[in-house]
Amino acid sequence: MSKPAVLEILDVHPGTTAKLERDYALHRLWEADDPKALIARVAPEVRGLVTNGIAGVKGEVIEALPKLEIIGVLGVGVDSVDLATAKAQGVRVTNTPDVLTTGVAELAMALLLDVARKVAANDRYLRAGRWPTEGDPPLARSLFGRRMGIVGLGRIGRAVARRAKVFEMEIGYGGRSRKPDADYRYFDDLVAMAKDVDVLMVTCVGGPTTAGLISREVIDALGPEGLLINVSRGSVVDEPALVDALVSGRLGGAGLDVFASEPQVPEALFELDNVVLQPHQGSASEETRGAMGRLVLENLEAHFAGRPLPTPVA
Ligand code: 8YV
Repeated sequence: MSKPAVLEILDVHPGTTAKLERDYALHRLWEADDPKALIARVAPEVRGLVTNGIAGVKGEVIEALPKLEIIGVLGVGVDSVDLATAKAQGVRVTNTPDVLTTGVAELAMALLLDVARKVAANDRYLRAGRWPTEGDPPLARSLFGRRMGIVGLGRIGRAVARRAKVFEMEIGYGGRSRKPDADYRYFDDLVAMAKDVDVLMVTCVGGPTTAGLISREVIDALGPEGLLINVSRGSVVDEPALVDALVSGRLGGAGLDVFASEPQVPEALFELDNVVLQPHQGSASEETRGAMGRLVLENLEAHFAGRPLPTPVA
């Protein structure tokens, strides 16, 4: 039997692309000079599509592939996948939950530690030769005894909470509902939580349900001593309000892995020493991306073998 045809939107992970190449008739969209022409050419045969959580897949691409059966997303977030069109066309969608939880939580803590203890800022200070001439830089802030408010106590939020506990932080969380099994203080109002905590840790899902959740009001409630860490989606935060608060000193600092229009990042942030920026690296470790890739492959394999999907998106 011939191998099923699969369209890969971008090189989601080199090891995974190599395995897709081995197991499927793989079409690499990102290498096409004319992506539209490639889609039109392979449309009569493509049964699978692979993408990641950032690129997702547009409804028009799904519509252009009448034989499409399954979309494998290398990522947990599916906010950039047109789920409504997929559903209307009877296309299954899978993602990669759980395997990236620890990796993303690690980066969240790295951002927090860096912003609070000024690791990158002091590294720049030292390299610029300022230590011998200007002496010690201003004092940083410790994490122990300080309060963290987690926005969205899902899998990643809980993994961050466990790590923050080890750093002797007090944990609270906000979200749509209280989690009966969570032993942390619950806030039903984000402004109230932001007023109460030192660190706002954003780990919730992206998409329309959370767009602009971290509003100007929430940012102002966090205040000039407060820190905002975002490892979720840029869409969750009112980005112009965030930049304005950081530039004017109304917010103490930020650790940002995600932005509203990636890979574009507001340049005003580049000048700020109290901001640590990452090019969407939460899951970007060999271990995590490897595990995500394996899960994408397992989902495709299960689908084409007629077995239940390991991690379908509900
Ligand atoms: C990835 C992500 O960076 O899981 C997600 O939703 O945003 C990230 O894990 C992304 O999928 C790129 O591979």
